[in-house]
Amino acid sequence: MSHEAARYDFHDKDADYAALASELEALLAGESDLIANAANATSLIYGALPDVNWCGVYFFKEGELVVGPFQGKPACVRIPLGKGVCGTAAALRATQVVPDVHAFPGHIACDAASRSEIVIPLVKHGNLLGVLDLDSPRLARFDEADRRGLERLAEVFLGSVATYGGPRLAP
Ligand code: SME
Repeated sequence: MSHEAARYDFHDKDADYAALASELEALLAGESDLIANAANATSLIYGALPDVNWCGVYFFKEGELVVGPFQGKPACVRIPLGKGVCGTAAALRATQVVPDVHAFPGHIACDAASRSEIVIPLVKHGNLLGVLDLDSPRLARFDEADRRGLERLAEVFLGSVATYGGPRLAP
C-alpha cells in the first residue's frame, strides 16, 4: 500500500474523493499538456485508491482507443470503439461500472488479476478525448460513490488540459 493510500481510507468516499480532487487540481495547476497531466493524474489516483491494480487513460485517436499514461501491468494498446468496457464507455459516452468483468460480454482481459472495473468517458466541449480506466482485483470494488468521485476527478483533469483538436463525434 502506498503512503497516499494511508492518507485516505475511503471509509467516507465522498469526503476522500473531494480531498483527492483538490489535490489533483493543485498537482495539475499551471500545466495544460495532455500527456503530462494524464500521467500525473493517473499516478495520483493509482497511489491514492486501495485495491486498484491498473489505472490509466486511453486516448481516442482516428476512430479507436489507444493506450496512454497508466500505472499497472502492460496493457492492450488499441481498443475499437464499442469493444470491451473501455470501448463501450467511449461509444456510449457513459461511465461503465462493472462489478464482475467475467460477466461483461466482450471484456478485454489485460491483467488476469482484474475482477472489477470502472471506465469514465473523457468528453471535453463535445469531443471524445478518451477514457479513464481503473481495474481492481476485488469483485464489485467500485460503487456509486466511486463513480461520483472518479467522474469529478475526470472533470478536474479535463479542465486542466488544452482543448483537444481531434475529430468530433456525433452525440
Ligand atoms: N478491460 C478493458 C481493457 C483495458 S485494461 O483493463 C487495461 C476493457 O475491457 O476495455
